Amino acid sequence: MPNKSWEIIINSDAVLFGAIGIPGLPQGAAESAIFKIRQELDLYVNLRPIKLFDALRDRCPLKEEFIGKGIDITFVRENTEGLYRKVGEINDNEAHNIMKYTRKGCERIIKYAFEYAKKNNHNKITSVDKANLLNPSLLWRKIFHEIASDYPELKTEDIYVDAFCQWLIRAPYSFQTVVTGNMFGDIISDEGAFLIGSMGMASSGNIHPGKISMYEPIHGSAPDIAGNNIANPIGTILSVKLMIQESFKHPNIGKEIESAVEDALNEGRTVDIKNPDLNTLSTKEMGSLISEKLKIRLKK
Ligand code: IPM
Ligand code: MG
Repeated sequence: MPNKSWEIIINSDAVLFGAIGIPGLPQGAAESAIFKIRQELDLYVNLRPIKLFDALRDRCPLKEEFIGKGIDITFVRENTEGLYRKVGEINDNEAHNIMKYTRKGCERIIKYAFEYAKKNNHNKITSVDKANLLNPSLLWRKIFHEIASDYPELKTEDIYVDAFCQWLIRAPYSFQTVVTGNMFGDIISDEGAFLIGSMGMASSGNIHPGKISMYEPIHGSAPDIAGNNIANPIGTILSVKLMIQESFKHPNIGKEIESAVEDALNEGRTVDIKNPDLNTLSTKEMGSLISEKLKIRLKK
């Protein structure tokens, strides 16, 4: 990352990160920018909401009976530790990484998740781990239950990550706040992102409460469609919604942005979520439609 970009980042209140990467870059080059921001700003919360808009039920890959009363899950992924510390070695015969969780790292993310669940009136919080096999998960689970005792009003559940992957498509309606470590969070949040109709819909926040935070759509740079004006802008727009709520503390404006997106989805669609009864819109048209809908809502 150029020094100039870094200077701008550290002099900002919040950062909106566009998708990066083009074919042919050395391995890890694009990822290194994301890592630098997450690690150096200590953005220990990766907030990944997975909400299926009613308007997009037809685009969900699950059958109606599995969608049930709807999908509205927030993944709270630990964002600085575990395998992502990149401690390890590789040679031609052997390779390893170290999965290290610390008490401090577990406590702060699990507390954040409990507070998030409380603030959003959730009545259940799910912890995802692999405590039947991994030491870091044993520590994680212990700390999860220690913290749970401060929140008797919230139901808690522990699920092994392999079983969770199954339950996420079998009964997605049964989850609300889901808290997990870095590697498991990476994997299950991609599974979740597709349930809401398209990767192009999924937003995220890399947050250190009270400090500079970074918001980004979950999708990558999609070089195969670059320059065609067909990409779905909603993942980015909903990332701005998260920024306004989490960094700038305007929950109501955030809600209006989400409602404006829903209004727009009832009228038109980008090609990744197209519907034969609605106009197919370009990236710019979708952006303008959402902006019009938002103006109407903010005037009310
Ligand atoms: C994500 C991405 C990153 C991650 C990659 C690009 C390093 O998959 O934000 O989920 O694994 O965290
Ligand atoms: Mg990922």
